[in-house]
Amino acid sequence: MIRTETLRKKDISHFWHPYTDISSLEQSRFPVIEEAEGVYLIDTDGHRMLDGISSWWCMNLGHSQRDIIEAIRKQSGMLQNSITGGMSHTKIIQLSEKIAEIAPGDLTRVYYASDGACSVEAAMRISIQYWWNKGRPGKKRMISLSGGYHGDTLGCVGLGYISRFHESVEHVINKSITAESPHCFHCRYKRKPEDCELECFNSMKKAVTENSGSIAAVIVEPVCQGAVGMRIYPPGYIAKLRKLCDENDVLLILDEIAVGFGRSGRMFASELAGIVPDMMCIGKGLTGGTLPMSAVVASDKIYDAFRSDVETDRTFYHGHTYCGNPIAAAAACAAIDVYERDKVLENVEMLSKMLSEAFKRFRNIPGVYGSTALGCMSSLEISEENGGSGKALEIDETSRRKGLFIRPLGPVLYLWPPLVTGKMDMEKMLRIFEDSLIENLP
Ligand SMILES: Cc1ncc(COP(=O)(O)O)c(C=O)c1O
Repeated sequence: MIRTETLRKKDISHFWHPYTDISSLEQSRFPVIEEAEGVYLIDTDGHRMLDGISSWWCMNLGHSQRDIIEAIRKQSGMLQNSITGGMSHTKIIQLSEKIAEIAPGDLTRVYYASDGACSVEAAMRISIQYWWNKGRPGKKRMISLSGGYHGDTLGCVGLGYISRFHESVEHVINKSITAESPHCFHCRYKRKPEDCELECFNSMKKAVTENSGSIAAVIVEPVCQGAVGMRIYPPGYIAKLRKLCDENDVLLILDEIAVGFGRSGRMFASELAGIVPDMMCIGKGLTGGTLPMSAVVASDKIYDAFRSDVETDRTFYHGHTYCGNPIAAAAACAAIDVYERDKVLENVEMLSKMLSEAFKRFRNIPGVYGSTALGCMSSLEISEENGGSGKALEIDETSRRKGLFIRPLGPVLYLWPPLVTGKMDMEKMLRIFEDSLIENLP
């Protein structure tokens, strides 16, 4: 206890936390995690807490996954870093082949970055340079969904502007054209999933058709807009979007950073829509969440547009020091093997049923506005009349006290457990989640 207090004091003296209000942090007795194992985070007092949000949605294979740790250990002793500009190394060759094998359709060209935001930056730049290389430099703008989240670099913020977070930088960012969010909790067309006719897609259709001459690409988070509040929406939207982009000569980028690697119930969410994007951004679950590595996976059509000839240099002059880092690559190779060997998607099927049933039930708790679930993603909203965001924070606090770590997004509470969570741990998470709702709601 004394050790934890000392650590908290040191923490607030030096560590600048992301997405954290300083005063609230200073007044809180925030957890200090020392170890983690499977679906449990273990703090400095030895308390075990279920990781209900997979540590910002990336620890898909649970914590301290043995094969990944062993791969990192082995690679650390062989090659820690080696540049990939104009040369290569064995791990990145192995990983690129693996990604090409599991990626949908003809996505076989892998460009590496570190964080998710960097892969989105790369994808945006590839799409703009693609048209430049094709002799159409006027196609340089992006279309995204209102409420979309694609990362926190200034380029990415331009894709997902939210005034509460970004007002202070509004004057320096380049905003995309935004289309209406497919916001099923608050469907403007009063539809239920059973009779949804995707009227919200008309806004995207208008944005694309009216601006196609100046648009390089549309970028969206497929089937779930995560950070804005886990807005799960029908895969049919993505299928329609593919067709629309094709008809209007616009590239389609799917940001699978959060939903890729099994979260949606398929390896990649685009599979639910039965389509292949021109580029897909991946990150988070790529290394099983262990090390920062992200990538843009592109089709030959895109890659081939970057070949120079004697007259024209079409090279993609973009890169990061750690593009294709061997230790992260080793972790990713091991993670992909585990997804396949341990049949993680079968476990997701089991979790998906449990989450869907439970969240359907939670909808009947007074104060819960709506709920939704797909694959290993589930969320519900606390109604404004019942305290909205403030109440969600109280529920969060109760849940942590009972041993389940969640972190609401405004009035939205969600469970995104590791994809390898066992039945008993899942039952425990759902029990704590439900008890915490009931304890705090009328
Ligand atoms: C859909 C999506 N895109 C991009 C990002 C940014 O990834 P990173 O935080 O690794 O930069 C996130 C992060 O949550 C995300 O959910």
